[in-house]
Amino acid sequence: MPLANPQAVASQLTSSALFLVVTIESGRGNETAVKSLCADLSGLVRAVGFRDPGARLSCVVGFGSEAWDRLFGQPRPQELHTFQEIRGVHRAVSTPGDLLFHIRSARQDLCFELAMQIMSRLQGVAAVADEVHGFSYFDNRDLLGFVDGTENPVDQAAVEATVIGAEDAPFAGGSYVIVQKYLHDLPGWNALPVETQERIIGRGKLSDIELDDAVKPSYAHNALTQIVENGEQLQILRDNMAFGEVGKGEYGTYFIGYARSPRRIEQMLENMFVGRPPGNYDRLLDFSRAVTGTLFFIPSSTWLEALGPVAQEPPDGSLQLGSLKGETQ
Ligand code: HEM
Repeated sequence: MPLANPQAVASQLTSSALFLVVTIESGRGNETAVKSLCADLSGLVRAVGFRDPGARLSCVVGFGSEAWDRLFGQPRPQELHTFQEIRGVHRAVSTPGDLLFHIRSARQDLCFELAMQIMSRLQGVAAVADEVHGFSYFDNRDLLGFVDGTENPVDQAAVEATVIGAEDAPFAGGSYVIVQKYLHDLPGWNALPVETQERIIGRGKLSDIELDDAVKPSYAHNALTQIVENGEQLQILRDNMAFGEVGKGEYGTYFIGYARSPRRIEQMLENMFVGRPPGNYDRLLDFSRAVTGTLFFIPSSTWLEALGPVAQEPPDGSLQLGSLKGETQ
């Protein structure tokens, strides 16, 4: 079997991102319209991105569990399921989402243009459940003032962390992603002494150097999100972005974590929200509230391209041309 190309999951960090979580309306032909867009997506990205190739426009599309059944049926990715709410010391909510578009570029206008093109194709077919325009803050900091992304795996390690292989052969080249929108109590956080903030994150605020094990608490964010299984660290790839609205006093971090299995991301969340051991939770959450939480499967771009050309469904419901994934399998 030829190797499947992943979508642009492991693309370099950019200064702008747009996160669109969309729900598909019920209605005749809506599934077909969504599939047709997905098959054409790489062409749309090329058309918008070619206006300034240096701005490295990319877009990753993901599918929620229910949407997968509606659009494609069997076979389905082994570990695709609806994100389960976690109730611990704090609460990780589960919120609806059929499609995720993770759009990245060095230019915000390119992200915006692509989002407009996508939504014009989904007019009357799908509604936006959540839209976040993210930006990179100074030297890749979150609004809490800490550098975010330092320990991300790179190159081959990023591929190892995110790309499904033989464990689910029909979906090799795919990934899973969990997104969560966090709102910060910034005045509360900024009232903490910097040393306390550094113990919560587990790194120096200015230097970004990891705290020594002798002083790093077991509840530090970078301790609770380190998972080792059979002597191997299970990594994920993050591309968090800052967002906000000063007029509303809204200051946030959009968390996005990719992995070849959702289990490791869920384990990190359990450690953060419930604690490891239970009760020893992530103090970051005393100042950060998760207001969304959704899990998506990211098929390989090879799989997406195999969707086209997608038949358009005429009003009488009979199909005209082409092959529809799901229907033909
Ligand atoms: C309010 C939301 C969050 C903020 C502000 C935040 C911020 C940070 C910061 C500043 C670091 C240290 C620098 C780095 O290595 O990137 C970090 C590390 C990390 N975070 Fe988060 N994070 C958030 C949520 C999450 C969530 C929900 C997860 C996983 C489910 C997660 C997983 C990780 C991992 C795996 C590391 C690297 C740990 C290591 O190996 O050192 N983070 N985060």
